Amino acid sequence: MKLSNFGRKFTAKTGILQLMDDLGHAMSGSEKKYMLGGGNPAHIPAVNEVWRRRMGEIMESDGALESMLANYDPPRGNTAFMRSLAGLLRSEFGWPITERNIAITNGSQTSFFILFNMLAGPDEHGMQRKILFPLTPEYIGYADQSQRLDDYRAVPADIELIDEHTFKYHVDFAHLKVHDDVAAICVSRPTNPTGNVVTDEEVARLDAIARDNGIPLIIDNAYGVPFPGMIFEDATPIWNENIILTMSLSKIGLPSTRTGIVIANESVIEAVSSCNAIVSLSNGSIGQHLVTPLLESGDLLRLADETIRPFYLEKSKHALDCIHGAFDDSVDYAVHKSEGSLFLWLWFRNLPITTMELYERLKARNTIVVPGRYFFFGFAGDWAHRNECIRLNYAMADEDVETGIRIIAEEARKAVEAGG
Ligand SMILES: Cc1ncc(COP(=O)(O)O)c(C=O)c1O
Repeated sequence: MKLSNFGRKFTAKTGILQLMDDLGHAMSGSEKKYMLGGGNPAHIPAVNEVWRRRMGEIMESDGALESMLANYDPPRGNTAFMRSLAGLLRSEFGWPITERNIAITNGSQTSFFILFNMLAGPDEHGMQRKILFPLTPEYIGYADQSQRLDDYRAVPADIELIDEHTFKYHVDFAHLKVHDDVAAICVSRPTNPTGNVVTDEEVARLDAIARDNGIPLIIDNAYGVPFPGMIFEDATPIWNENIILTMSLSKIGLPSTRTGIVIANESVIEAVSSCNAIVSLSNGSIGQHLVTPLLESGDLLRLADETIRPFYLEKSKHALDCIHGAFDDSVDYAVHKSEGSLFLWLWFRNLPITTMELYERLKARNTIVVPGRYFFFGFAGDWAHRNECIRLNYAMADEDVETGIRIIAEEARKAVEAGG
C-alpha cells in the first residue's frame, strides 16, 4: 500500500501506540494485574444508576428511543442539548453563551484533531503554524494529533517544591515566547497526567498573551467544572470570545458515548461544524440525549458536586496515603500536588534507572503504570526530568491501588539499593 504523508503520519508506529499495545498485552492472561495505567474513569455505582434510570426513561417515553437512535443530528450537535448546556453555563458562570457558541464532536479527542489541524500546519503564506503548549508535561493524547511532527512547540514547566515530597508545576513565563508562527496556545486544566490545576493568575496571563498576539487560547476542561467537577482546588472557570473551551461527557462516566463539546466564538464554532460535516456528517447523540434533562434539572451539577468530586477526592487521598506509607527515605520521591483529574504524578529524583525501565520491571510484577516520557513532546531539549516520572490512575479498586503502589515502592527501592 502506498501511503500519503497523512497516511504515513497517522499509521506510524508511535511510542504511544506501542505503549497501548504493550498495556493491552500486559493486561491479558489470567494472572491478577494492578492496573494503574490507562485513563478510564471509575465505575461509580450512584452514577451508573443515573444512566440506568435515564435509559429506562428513554425506553418508556413515546418516541424518545427513535429520536435518539434513528435521526442524524445537525453537524453542529443536538440542538436541545446545546441549548440546555448554554443555559447552564449562563446561569452558573454568567458567560454570554448561546447554542451558537457550542459545537459537539465525537469525543474531545476528535475536538483536538479538528482544532489542531484547523489551526496548525502550513498557512496560505507558507508559514508553518504551531500549537504552543505553555506547560509541559501535557496530555499524551495531543502528541500525535497534528499532521506534521513539528506542528507543536512546548515549554518545560517551572517546578515549585512545596515540601520534601510534594511539588507543583507552573508556567515558566520567562521562557514562554510567542513567535509569529504560533497559531494557538493550549493547556489542560486540570491536567492529565499531573493533576495540576493551572492557577487563576496563570490563566489570566495566558489569556492576555493570547489576546495580545491575536491567537486563541484553548483550555481543555475534560476534568473541570461544571462537570465532571474533578477539581479539588478553588479555581475560577474562564471563558471569553478568544478562549476555546473544550469539555467532554467521558469523565462523568460516559466515555463510550464519545461526546466532546467545544465552546467558542461563533466563527470557531462554524468552522468546527463544517469540519464535523465533512469528517463525520453528524455526531453520535446518545450521550446528549441521556444528559439533556439532567442539565435542565440541575441534577448533573449535583451529581458532579455531591458524588463525582467527593469520590475522586477520597481516591486521591487514599492513593497519597498509600504512597507516603509505602515509600521510605531510601527513595527520593515527590508527588505532584493533587488538585484534580484522576491521576497522581510521581517524580523519582536520583533513581539510577529511567522510569521506562521501571515501567518494564513493574510490568513483570503485574503492575501497570504509564512511564512519564510520553507526556513530554514538542521540545527538543535534553531535560532529565522526562525520564524521572510516572503517571498513576487512582480510580481503580482501593486494594489494587494499595498493592500496586507497594510494588512500585519495592521496585524503586530495589533499583536504588542495586545502583541500577
Ligand atoms: C486532558 C484530556 N483531554 C481530552 C481527553 C479525551 O477525552 P474524550 O475523547 O474521551 O472526550 C482526555 C481523555 O483522557 C483527557 O485526559
